[in-house]
Amino acid sequence: VPRDWSTSAELHLEFDACVPGRRASLEKAVRDAIHAGRLVPGSSLPSTRRLAADLGLSRGTVVEAYAQLTSEGYLVGRPGSSTSVAPGAALAQSISLSEPAPSGVESARFDLRPGLLDIGRTFPRREWLRSVRTVLASAPDSSFDYGDPRGRLELRVALARYLGRARGVAASPETIVVCQGFSHGLELAARALLGRGASIAAMEDPCLPAHRMCVKRAGLAVTGMPVEALGADVAALRASGANVAVVTPAHQYPTGVTLAAERRAQLVEWARQTGAVVIEDDYDGEFRYDRQPVGALQGLAPHEVIYIGTTSKTMAPGLRVGWMVVPPNLVQPVIDAMGPQPGGSGPPSLEQLALADFIERGRLDQHLRRLRAAYRRRRDIVLQELADVAPPLRPYGIAAGLHVTFPFTGTPYEEAAVAAAARRNGLRVAFLGSHTHAGASKPGGLVLGFARPTEPQLPEALRLLARAFAESRS
Ligand SMILES: Cc1ncc(COP(=O)(O)O)c(C=O)c1O
Repeated sequence: VPRDWSTSAELHLEFDACVPGRRASLEKAVRDAIHAGRLVPGSSLPSTRRLAADLGLSRGTVVEAYAQLTSEGYLVGRPGSSTSVAPGAALAQSISLSEPAPSGVESARFDLRPGLLDIGRTFPRREWLRSVRTVLASAPDSSFDYGDPRGRLELRVALARYLGRARGVAASPETIVVCQGFSHGLELAARALLGRGASIAAMEDPCLPAHRMCVKRAGLAVTGMPVEALGADVAALRASGANVAVVTPAHQYPTGVTLAAERRAQLVEWARQTGAVVIEDDYDGEFRYDRQPVGALQGLAPHEVIYIGTTSKTMAPGLRVGWMVVPPNLVQPVIDAMGPQPGGSGPPSLEQLALADFIERGRLDQHLRRLRAAYRRRRDIVLQELADVAPPLRPYGIAAGLHVTFPFTGTPYEEAAVAAAARRNGLRVAFLGSHTHAGASKPGGLVLGFARPTEPQLPEALRLLARAFAESRS
């Protein structure tokens, strides 16, 4: 018969066994804990024998206190079985497991902002569970110890192979540092470079505002690189005094353009001549639809580029697993930037081992093939459903990724009016204006993420968006 764990449940009570009226004080301590929300409905209490021993009381005193609290409706339990806090016990504060909706979005039916996934359908739970089971059963004892700050060797080996064949990255396990996603890697890189004398980071304009914050928080000043049809204007770098450049070469975020080959070469040349370092954000490089995949910039210049990848688009942002491929001379500065905690600042080792298994068994490739087909279908639905918007919108960045940009240049649309109409139609949307360094842009444009609604929901969400465009002009 399995032992009931509740007999040994830990319970902290504000209770002094030395004062008279012990039974009444024990009852009060339990009531107080329930009122304060420290004991929530359903929580098991220790057995009377165990609590009596812990508190230095006679078992009879605890039995009587439990009986009194049960008769008052605070506790439930049958003789001989465990006692727990009653489902309806009064609580001074209730604990909610669901997150409150941000204010003003309660009525949003569909979320069309970039960076969000339909995780319920796309996260490969079954395959991930198989990898988790496998590694939990076979993980060496060292997995539970403080580890190498660069991350588990098994994952670094798997990543070196995967990144080499899938993204054209020149990586070896020694130069890979596992981190908690791109933002974490960016902050580590910026801090490491600051420690080596860097002072100014050139960042694409527009870009994700949170990433500008990361870099500034790390201590670097930020200057802008305007993004054009060929990608970031790297010719402006020399005059800017920057010694770091942060780019999204495969699929610029948010405009969706690809950094042209000649600009890649110029960027690398600038880094080589000035001793600067390029940080490459390869956030959605796996999702290329219409052409041959665009390889990573790092493959051209492994000594000048810190490459950072993430599972936030391919698996789920909540995993918080990413990786940096670092020039050999910057590995130690990146480790130093993690701070003093033993074992580094990467994700938990079991998660790292699970991902290593997931990659090595070919499950990531399989998963990506499925996702790529699904996202291409979604991208086509976007283009189809918005094709008849009049005056027409011209989509940008459709060859890759999980978002499409619609610049308003040459159209009568305005961000504020489209935003208001989208809200009225139950949509959450994002705009170019909030991504620019100056904090606003005219004429701006829409940055449309198509990965959050389910595929069957998407046409309806887009019809509402088409309606919002029409209404924004009336
Ligand atoms: C441009 C860009 N880079 C990187 C990421 C991923 O960041 P992280 O790995 O920290 O979740 C995102 C997520 O939306 C993004 O938009």
